Amino acid sequence: MIARRMSQLDSSGIRKVFDLAQKMQNPVNLSIGQPDFDVPEEIKTEAIKAIQNGINKYTVTQGIPELRDGLIKRLQKERGVNAEGIMITSGVSGALTLAFMVLVNPDDEVLIPDPAFVSYKHLANFCGGKPVFVDTYPDFQLTAARIQPHITKKTRILIINSPANPTGVLCATRELKEIAELARKHNLLIISDEIYHDYDYNHAFDSIGRYYEKTLILDGFSKSFAVTGWRMGYAAGPASIISEMIKLQQYTFVCAPSPAQYAVARSLDIDLDNYISSYKKKRDLMYDGLKDTYHLIKPGGAFYFFPQVPWGTDEKFVSAAIQKNLLIIPGSVFSERQTHFRISYAASEETLKRGIDILNSLSRQ
Ligand SMILES: Cc1ncc(COP(=O)(O)O)c(C=O)c1O
Repeated sequence: MIARRMSQLDSSGIRKVFDLAQKMQNPVNLSIGQPDFDVPEEIKTEAIKAIQNGINKYTVTQGIPELRDGLIKRLQKERGVNAEGIMITSGVSGALTLAFMVLVNPDDEVLIPDPAFVSYKHLANFCGGKPVFVDTYPDFQLTAARIQPHITKKTRILIINSPANPTGVLCATRELKEIAELARKHNLLIISDEIYHDYDYNHAFDSIGRYYEKTLILDGFSKSFAVTGWRMGYAAGPASIISEMIKLQQYTFVCAPSPAQYAVARSLDIDLDNYISSYKKKRDLMYDGLKDTYHLIKPGGAFYFFPQVPWGTDEKFVSAAIQKNLLIIPGSVFSERQTHFRISYAASEETLKRGIDILNSLSRQ
């Protein structure tokens, strides 16, 4: 009864963790990939006003012009990117779904960093493509030298996610330029997932879109505005790709939520500095608490650490953490390896301190 393509999707890793989490009482939860602060008041007010002013109907498929224009200007001003086309999507997840459906043919090879955000691999498989993993251990840097040996005649797409989930690591400008050169040589399309670009603690974020015109930038508001439930994202890049994605959006998502589009359009200039610096503090707290007991990289962005497990496999280690009421994610959810685990520090300082204590007690078996 179920279509064969569904056999390409597997949710076992993450489901196992959440099944275990159901049984925990008041867990120290360092598993969540969403900010712990509330939506800034101005943004909430704009959403409420939009609903009360009757903005509850469909918008045009590609999204409202004031938001698209505002984003085009911001991409130009803040990232030096001149996007030919732009559309508003239902989150970056919506944009990823449309992009993969529009771009991946059966047997196309899609280069994906290992480790990486879970959806890339599954969407590539779902479209009949072949995920090809670019190992980035132990420092999680995506480099041209690491990508190059994986390029074949079938390679079509390279995924970049900087700052990255699950590692927090950023791609430096020098690396981006080399990757752009490699992509140009092999005529690859780059999908650059920039959803964590605001969480950039050393002001080192740069977009590959500046250096390579065949880049599709995906970005959104879930993480920056703490509105994961609003489903707001966008895709910007070559007009020929965006127009196909709009065509498909017409028959699938139809449009991104209309009150959220208006609220976000009027909030583009809101200052997030206080939120971001509080996350930098959380990163430092977590790093200082764990650096003597764990092998971990101090990342420049996002809100994750991806430490090595001190003993056993990732699943064994995470099970032991759960026994101690700490919820973290086994690295194999994001990776072909079973050697690391993901911590999210999008939590209160008190929760982080409790997490550090438990992790330190777990570092010795
Ligand atoms: C790297 C990355 N891309 C995309 C998404 C999806 O975000 P959205 O809420 O915009 O669908 C996430 C969410 O965790 C993510 O970590």
